[in-house]
Amino acid sequence: MTAAPLLEITDLHITYWRRSLLGLRGKPFHAVRGASLSIRPGETLGLVGESGSGKSSIANAVLGLAPVSSGSIRFAGSELAAMNARYPPSLRKRIQAVFQDPYSSLNPAMTVEDIITEPLRVHTELTRAERRAKAIELLQRVSLSEEHLRRHPYQFSGGQRQRIAIASALALQPEMIVLDEPVSALDVSTQNQIINLLYERREALGIAYLLIAHDLALVHHISDRIAVMYLGHIVEEGPSDRVFHAPAHPYTKALLDAVPLLDPQAQRRRRAARKSAPAPEAARVAPTGCPYRNRCPSAMKRCAEESPPAYSVAAGGVASCFLLADARPEAASAASATA
Ligand SMILES: Nc1ncnc2c1ncn2[C@@H]1O[C@H](COP(=O)(O)OP(=O)(O)OP(=O)(O)O)[C@@H](O)[C@H]1O
Ligand SMILES: [Mg+2]
Repeated sequence: MTAAPLLEITDLHITYWRRSLLGLRGKPFHAVRGASLSIRPGETLGLVGESGSGKSSIANAVLGLAPVSSGSIRFAGSELAAMNARYPPSLRKRIQAVFQDPYSSLNPAMTVEDIITEPLRVHTELTRAERRAKAIELLQRVSLSEEHLRRHPYQFSGGQRQRIAIASALALQPEMIVLDEPVSALDVSTQNQIINLLYERREALGIAYLLIAHDLALVHHISDRIAVMYLGHIVEEGPSDRVFHAPAHPYTKALLDAVPLLDPQAQRRRRAARKSAPAPEAARVAPTGCPYRNRCPSAMKRCAEESPPAYSVAAGGVASCFLLADARPEAASAASATA
């Protein structure tokens, strides 16, 4: 299966200009530093990493909402990075988004019917009655019903609001949905329900997802591939099972260690191992070499001197870590390893 990528991000840099007190242009902040990733039609890429690693910046860049300083974002053959959010409507409707906080992302003044039919009103010629029929069908698809049409967002639980946001995102039958932490604000059992709903809709409709989360364990079930970000860099990428069960980058291992274990003995062993690792408070930003080296339990002299390129991992994907240098030849690029 070698379908052309639907979304292809190449060497993306995103720089925010933080204003100084005097209102001058301020200092540049490099939130994303050369990220590449690709998503094929119908595929789900899980993008994980700790807070501040640049996940939302990438999501927002795809939606035309983040300041791209260089690099390319191609969607179905169109270059998005050059459009500065002025996507033609024909393109706009093909990429939809669902955000973390269903409390602020749904307009409280609108009814559920308005929320779900708004994209249909803007992008289609459907009549009011046809839009309503479509809204009812969409509500049923997310396990809500016609009786919810007249209600307002505040009358729903967090999980129900996220179902409404998903119904709205599905209305135009997009080819891709950018999901930025869609379940982070929900309790655990609701998280699973929403992940199952997303899975089920993807299977039925063949939509591609860019699914952002903190929690690798949560995205592992639904993702085909997983990319791991650390301080603006994608440090590892590969098939979901491989990344989850056999992480190659020390940072991915640390992320997985943050997932609680059910076996108390295993949990104790892990805690003991963690004590010997450097404290996470150690300076986070390494100005040269590997971005993770100040927190890495396996850091070597070389890690301070050079930036590790993306090395192929035997069981699939790539990781930017010198620990793989002896085992594998250098991969041509992150994108090539996804073929
Ligand atoms: N508009 C902005 N202006 C200045 N800095 C910003 C802006 N948006 C994000 N940043 C900074 O860029 C970095 C990456 O932010 P981003 O929101 O992409 O991270 P994230 O991985 O999504 O984090 P989280 O998991 O907390 O959502 C952070 O240090 C953040 O403070
Ligand atoms: Mg974010």
